[in-house]
Amino acid sequence: MAFLLPIASGKGGVGKSVIAANLALALARLGRTVVAVDLDLGASNLHTCLGVRNRQPGLGALVWRAERNLSDLLTETAYERLWLIPGDGLLPGTANLEWAAKRRILRDLARLPADFVILDLGAGSSYNVVDFFLASTEGLVVVRPEITSILNAYSFLKTAAFRLLTRCFPDKSPGRAELLELGRGKTEGRGRSFLDAARELAERFPGEGSVALERLQALRPRAIMNQGLGKGDAELGYRLRDIAKQNLGLEVAFTGYLLDDPALPQSVALRTPLVALDPASPFSRGIRAVAARIDGEPRRAPAGSGGSRPGDVGAAAGGEAAFAGAAASAASGSAAHLEAEKPDQDTVLERLIAEARNRGAEEPLP
Ligand SMILES: Nc1ncnc2c1ncn2[C@@H]1O[C@H](COP(=O)(O)OP(=O)(O)OP(=O)(O)O)[C@@H](O)[C@H]1O
Ligand SMILES: [Mg+2]
Repeated sequence: MAFLLPIASGKGGVGKSVIAANLALALARLGRTVVAVDLDLGASNLHTCLGVRNRQPGLGALVWRAERNLSDLLTETAYERLWLIPGDGLLPGTANLEWAAKRRILRDLARLPADFVILDLGAGSSYNVVDFFLASTEGLVVVRPEITSILNAYSFLKTAAFRLLTRCFPDKSPGRAELLELGRGKTEGRGRSFLDAARELAERFPGEGSVALERLQALRPRAIMNQGLGKGDAELGYRLRDIAKQNLGLEVAFTGYLLDDPALPQSVALRTPLVALDPASPFSRGIRAVAARIDGEPRRAPAGSGGSRPGDVGAAAGGEAAFAGAAASAASGSAAHLEAEKPDQDTVLERLIAEARNRGAEEPLP
């Protein structure tokens, strides 16, 4: 099964699409087969970042014409091993998808014959975005070193964690009612995180509550700081990590620090990923480091594929049962992985920043 890698942000315009395009190409250049998918259904532009003309049918066609297979939408790019599934932003009605349609798309994406399927998501915290983000336990959240971006990323993670929990309880169940009550109140500063609430629910509702707790514990979002400015960046990044830990019980780890690079807007204007145009530019080198890091990690299966209740996940098709099973094993695998990485947590962003600064053009990268 392909490894799904969603890229979200909360705040718009922080670099999701350019990161998706360049990360996809960097992974392809490491020898992986990669599909970049434009899931910003309201405002698709990933094709522009990859230099593909907007002529082919995209995901909108799949939503409207159920007979079409997702693999029929695979579009060639100019780059070896890199494919695109465009978004069809111009088709009305695709911006708000039913959960069943999203689940079908995610199931089919995970079955694509690729190593990585990169999902370029829209901005904001709508359920469309959040549900696609939850296709992996380790989605990427892009932030810029500014407080609004950090706070929007936190709100996004909060919505995602809340959605993950509520999806585990059937409509009108007592557990769902308690969660809605939690959602109505303020979490911040109460000393009781979403994780604490999930632990309590798991005790009271051993079935659904335990699944919810397991899924929340497996969630391990990764952050990329883009357009690094210098002094104070690490402090802002750690603010995100600390508030997510305190209020949600989530461990957010930084996996990349990308410098502001004037060559990047130029590359967008030329409709060519910067990694192809100038692989040694500061941004390209940062992206290639992220690609090498992600490629070097043990591959985990997609998770968070739950239906409106735990039991309905595997009900539809055989493949979907495998999807759900993989989610369960990903949950326990990720917890162990989290333990193993803990010692690095306090220094990792500072280390990434120092690496980005010191990265000379001659330093070899894969
Ligand atoms: N590291 C960087 N250095 C310089 N410019 C950058 C950098 N990252 C992004 N940009 C510029 O910021 C602009 C917005 O980037 P992009 O379209 O990828 O954002 P987005 O998060 O996908 O936006 P949206 O939320 O609208 O989908 C682009 O024109 C891009 O060139
Ligand atoms: Mg975008």
